[in-house]
Amino acid sequence: MSSLPGSPEGAATTGLVDTPVDASPETLAALPPLTAQTRLEAREIMARYPQPRSALLPMLHLVQSVQGYVSPEGVTLCAEELGLTKAEVGAVATFYTMYKRRPTGRHLVSVCTNTLCNVLGGQRIMDALSADLGVHHDETAADGSITLEHAECLAACDYAPVVTVDYEFYDQQDVESARDLVAALRRGEKPHPTRGAPLSDFRGVSRQLAGFSQWADADAEAAAVDAPWSAGPTLIGVHLAAERGEAAPPMTAPGPGAGTQDADAGEARETVRPSGRTGQSPGEEAADARVAAADTPAEKAGAAGSHPDAPEPAGRRLPDGVTGTDTPAGSEPGTSGQGPGKA
Ligand code: FES
Repeated sequence: MSSLPGSPEGAATTGLVDTPVDASPETLAALPPLTAQTRLEAREIMARYPQPRSALLPMLHLVQSVQGYVSPEGVTLCAEELGLTKAEVGAVATFYTMYKRRPTGRHLVSVCTNTLCNVLGGQRIMDALSADLGVHHDETAADGSITLEHAECLAACDYAPVVTVDYEFYDQQDVESARDLVAALRRGEKPHPTRGAPLSDFRGVSRQLAGFSQWADADAEAAAVDAPWSAGPTLIGVHLAAERGEAAPPMTAPGPGAGTQDADAGEARETVRPSGRTGQSPGEEAADARVAAADTPAEKAGAAGSHPDAPEPAGRRLPDGVTGTDTPAGSEPGTSGQGPGKA
């Protein structure tokens, strides 16, 4: 979210949540109150964590599940329960874009306008919905049905352009399909997302994010199963490779020359040979095993470097029959300032 000086967002950020953007008396009067039950549920969330203040994020979702945004009353509740200042709660609530500083509509529609979605029409979708709803980013339609926002990458680039409604995915949208989706939402319909859970509404999903079921009863919860999903675009590369008979080279443990390939055969060089069939000494086999067992690149590099087969580091190999240093004293340039020995 933008926080440019002078913008509504900037004003909100400056005030931190003691003065959220929309705290008009009319708005506050229309909010459902935070009840004793809300406070009990907040404490239930706190009990899940060794440090109660770790509960702040789901508690803010809980507030949104009741009032549709992080209200002044919600900030106060979180601060009181956690022993924080309201400024501390506000600093968290204004950092994350999932916490809203204006009352949201029934649904939150997020349009990805980040790179890949934008190339494929994300901004055109945003512009069309903006025109239909008569709102801009982070504003709510006059009928209270939809809050519209643009979003950064929603981690679904293979399904670009994507739109989410209350964080559920509607993949591979175009202007017309997105308009149809929003029109249906405004009629009170809940088109099934492309994948994942059925759509509820912003307050419902906020309750889910707080760690409580958003469904009224066990039957409703049982019915809220994820949609079948083929993961087609995600797996298209795998299917193409199978059609073409392509496969990744087998994985081998790195050793000297790791990462290179046999120039003739085009195959990865085998560096791990089974014990007992190699003709190696026990020390060499043990060194192979250390290389194979190393977990990290650094460990592998260390194990490979200490392998008996590891080449001498450049410049350190002595001529045959020579022991000790091969550098005459005083002739090695270095940082000591001594420099080569003088004649
Ligand atoms: S750019 Fe839109 S999901 Fe990644």
